[in-house]
Amino acid sequence: MEPIEIKPGIYWVGGIDWDVRNFHGYLTQRGATYNAYLIMDEKIVLVDTVKHYLFDEMLARISEVVDPSKIDYVVSNHVEMDHSGNLAKILALAPDAKVVTSPNGEKGLRRHYKEDWDFVVVKSGDTINIGKRTMQFFLTPMVHWPDNMVTYLPEEKILLSNDAFGQHIATPERFDDEIGWDVLHEEAAKYYANIVFPYGDQVKKALDALSGLDLEIVAPGHGIIWRTYLPKILEAYQKWATNTAENRAVIIYDTMWGSTEKMAHSLRAGLEKAGIPVTMRNLKTLHISDIMADVLRSKAILVGSPTLNNGIFPSVGAFLTYLKGLRPKNRIGFAFGSYGWGGQAVKEMETIMNDLGWDMPVEGVKIQYIPDEGELDKVKEAGKELGAVIKKE
Ligand code: FEO
Repeated sequence: MEPIEIKPGIYWVGGIDWDVRNFHGYLTQRGATYNAYLIMDEKIVLVDTVKHYLFDEMLARISEVVDPSKIDYVVSNHVEMDHSGNLAKILALAPDAKVVTSPNGEKGLRRHYKEDWDFVVVKSGDTINIGKRTMQFFLTPMVHWPDNMVTYLPEEKILLSNDAFGQHIATPERFDDEIGWDVLHEEAAKYYANIVFPYGDQVKKALDALSGLDLEIVAPGHGIIWRTYLPKILEAYQKWATNTAENRAVIIYDTMWGSTEKMAHSLRAGLEKAGIPVTMRNLKTLHISDIMADVLRSKAILVGSPTLNNGIFPSVGAFLTYLKGLRPKNRIGFAFGSYGWGGQAVKEMETIMNDLGWDMPVEGVKIQYIPDEGELDKVKEAGKELGAVIKKE
């Protein structure tokens, strides 16, 4: 297990999770990486650790550079266990090391590990000199937990950003230009949509706080390290954090006997007639975590559900529960679906969209049993009407 020197004296010593395909409900089809960084200076620093089962891999990489007992500081940018999961093990090998963390980090680490480690608690702007270099810390609460912070090395123009700017991808490459923007943009968007989406305001605050920093490299806690595409990912984060979506629509639906699906395709036809690109997402074939990347991108979110047992179809209900938690803002919503006798699903979906603060400029549509051609034409018209509103945005 080799470390990778990302700048002279600064090493990536993380772990690659080749097999993980489900990260607490988020499908990670490309696996994942937990990044830890070793800084060799007059003081030796380990920034973050890896998920518990990758300890040996991280230790082997560290040991190629230095005897772990010589580590002076372990910086814990984030309490969540994919980053802190091996603190206890590394501190057992480096018993004199201090643990540098935020105020909420200390509380969280004490709750997780019940250990009285030698904590150094830092606030935004605090610095620790480690020889030729300085570590400067910025608290970034809710990106992704209340305890999050980032570590900046001004002499190196490196930001060790933990969850911010991450992507779930397992790869031997460590730098963005070794993979390419398209794949990384897709994974970074999916990551943002599933992990950071609810905290756009806090992301914006963090981006503002970091905007004055001279940056050459942003090295996150997951995935590859940004250097060539750094301006592009910063621009993407600005867009995502301000809920700026494209003039396009995503239609998310499930169907029992095909009627809601027919309505979905008529809506698509109407939207396309109005010149709006449409992505179709059938909940029978796609996972909710994949669909969230489309929600991140799209201005209009159309959701279709048959009424089952006087309510929303279970797969659509699960999607909406997930969506409610991730709280996308500034969207246009539209609900539709077929029913047999009650027809409550459309109303219930509209209540959820209303709670999210979405605009619903076109009234939702429900159709009993099987839509006929005339009814489908009306659905298409509703799609066209919606398309015209989206175009004006
Ligand atoms: Fe990668 Fe919030 O942990």
